[in-house]
Amino acid sequence: MDQQSTDVGGGTPWMSGPVVRPRRLRRTPALRRLVAETSLEARQLILPAFVREGATEPHPIAAMPGVVQHSTDSLRRAAAEAAELGVGGLMLFGVPEHKDAVGSGGTDPDGVLNLAIADVKAEVGDALPVMSDLCLDEFTDHGHCGVLDERGQVDNDATLVRYAEMALAQAAAGVDLVGPSGMMDGQVAVVRAALDAAGHTDVAVLAYAAKYASAFYGPFREAVSSSLVGDRRTYQQDAANGREGVREALLDVAEGADLVMVKPALPYLDVVRRVRDAVDVPVAAYQISGEYTMVELAAERGVIDRDQAIVETLTSIRRAGADVVLTYWATEVARNLR
Ligand code: PBG
Repeated sequence: MDQQSTDVGGGTPWMSGPVVRPRRLRRTPALRRLVAETSLEARQLILPAFVREGATEPHPIAAMPGVVQHSTDSLRRAAAEAAELGVGGLMLFGVPEHKDAVGSGGTDPDGVLNLAIADVKAEVGDALPVMSDLCLDEFTDHGHCGVLDERGQVDNDATLVRYAEMALAQAAAGVDLVGPSGMMDGQVAVVRAALDAAGHTDVAVLAYAAKYASAFYGPFREAVSSSLVGDRRTYQQDAANGREGVREALLDVAEGADLVMVKPALPYLDVVRRVRDAVDVPVAAYQISGEYTMVELAAERGVIDRDQAIVETLTSIRRAGADVVLTYWATEVARNLR
């Protein structure tokens, strides 16, 4: 008999049972809870929310069942509810009524996003960290994340000037963290310098560091009523590259990022792990619109268990190394965790 086995008896000497039995610790829910390596807590979740200029009531987003473009009032209620439930933070996106080539709405103090920041801060104070998407795509008529040069290409350095102005507008509105998400080179350094020069040294930077050109952003295009023609492949990363994701994260940390993000989450869990191992700032991962919609539509069709899939995907993203996760299910999960 070898050392890994015992005789199970019963007169079947050719059949021996294992000594090592991992199943022992899986026998009851309490045992499984005792040895769980990964936790899922409300404070680790950030709720992304859309606010639509001029809306007097929430508008459902057809591509994302259960998610809406908020009115000012419904956004305040959603923020208060998230704070009440101990959600970790709120990430705001604006949907402006008017768009133009340079995304003027993003820097207008009366623009939809800047007003929403002030509104939400007035509602929740310091109980819920408020974050804002710092990118031009929601505000440009061409739908790109930056301004275009005369050949129609996204102009990196001209865009940086707009990002600096946008950071100042968001900081003036009272935001706690800005989220530069346009994947322009040098964006974190420029935003940090602009904030500091204006005395906003306490405003933190959550950098979308490794952001991939992904088909899973599909439903988001409807969520922000995007007018994008073409794609973002000249600035967002190629799915083939993992090492480059680490490089982008290290660059952002060197430029002053307080947290770095990997996005999307589920198709890039290896990148989440590599970034987690490479940096010493908190790492966020964004479970994006398409990841949300995949689960919702599959559940609608009755082919997967919705609640189990939600917890499983979030736990997997945490297990891969994300300290915090942006998820459209943040409030619901926080309530269920109560
Ligand atoms: C850029 C931005 C995008 C998302 C968040 N910030 C769209 C993009 O880069 O194409 C996508 C979020 C989601 O799909 O849930 N402003």
